[in-house]
Amino acid sequence: MKRESLVSINDFSKEEIMDLLEKARSFEENPNRKVLDGKVIATLFFEPSTRTRLSFETAVNRLGGRIIGFSDAATSSSSKGESLKDTIIMVSNYVDLIIMRHHLEGAARYASEVSSVPIINAGDGANQHPTQTMLDLYSIYKTQGTLENLNITMVGDLKYGRTVHSLLQAMSHFNPTFHFVAPDELKMPQEYKIFCEEHNIPYYEHSDFSEDVINQADILYMTRVQRERFTDLMEYERVKDIYILRNSMLAGSKPNLRVLHPLPRVNEIAYDVDDNPKAYYFQQAKNGLYARQAIICKVLGIDVE
Ligand code: CP
Repeated sequence: MKRESLVSINDFSKEEIMDLLEKARSFEENPNRKVLDGKVIATLFFEPSTRTRLSFETAVNRLGGRIIGFSDAATSSSSKGESLKDTIIMVSNYVDLIIMRHHLEGAARYASEVSSVPIINAGDGANQHPTQTMLDLYSIYKTQGTLENLNITMVGDLKYGRTVHSLLQAMSHFNPTFHFVAPDELKMPQEYKIFCEEHNIPYYEHSDFSEDVINQADILYMTRVQRERFTDLMEYERVKDIYILRNSMLAGSKPNLRVLHPLPRVNEIAYDVDDNPKAYYFQQAKNGLYARQAIICKVLGIDVE
């Protein structure tokens, strides 16, 4: 893999994460800097996206770079049967950086091995979403004033949710306590529980989304049940609305609690939560612009103050 690529959140050390958070803060103060003048960047989205693609493209535009790419693989030659390998080799002939999302786990790592330019993983199946994690960390840091010693409750689709998998690994640097709230069908996979055990991270599993659990949390990380990952749609129907956060459920929560969600939401956060000052998911998505500006500069080796 090219060292500059960002495939997994584990590609970053704790020091690199803290440096990126500082850079994101600097970009939030001034997001319009022409540091990508002359650079061409490709966004290859083999899976749908609103926030990730548009925030990356906004990031590049505000930094003075140019964007090419596709938001629907059906409009690319992959619909004619071209392989991922050939697509990546071709596109890396044209650009300085490839940002890609793909439904297959491991696709970004594979791309990084055949590409002549750095790859940024914008989500690969149920595996990793490291740039989402950087904006999540930035949001947690901004709202809590620290990343250390936090009580983080993850709710919903912990099996297929790549954002919770990346976030869990990133938080391992910061001494967290986790609560996992999920039905049996969508429990946190064994490999991530083993990861917690190997890193001496306490975790507790719950099937009830109770106010007791909510009231202990510093961060309540809600997730969507990911219809597109189910092979059995009857199973999806059984679990899709299992947990719904309503405003009344936050009445006894800690003053510093913030509700995060990578978005899009479907039914798992009722609209009456939106006006609660503890709801942070729209600001969280906005933070993605600054976190992604910092990440682009890092992988391209561009020094910013
Ligand atoms: N959070 C996230 O990845 O959103 P999109 O699917 O809209 O990019």
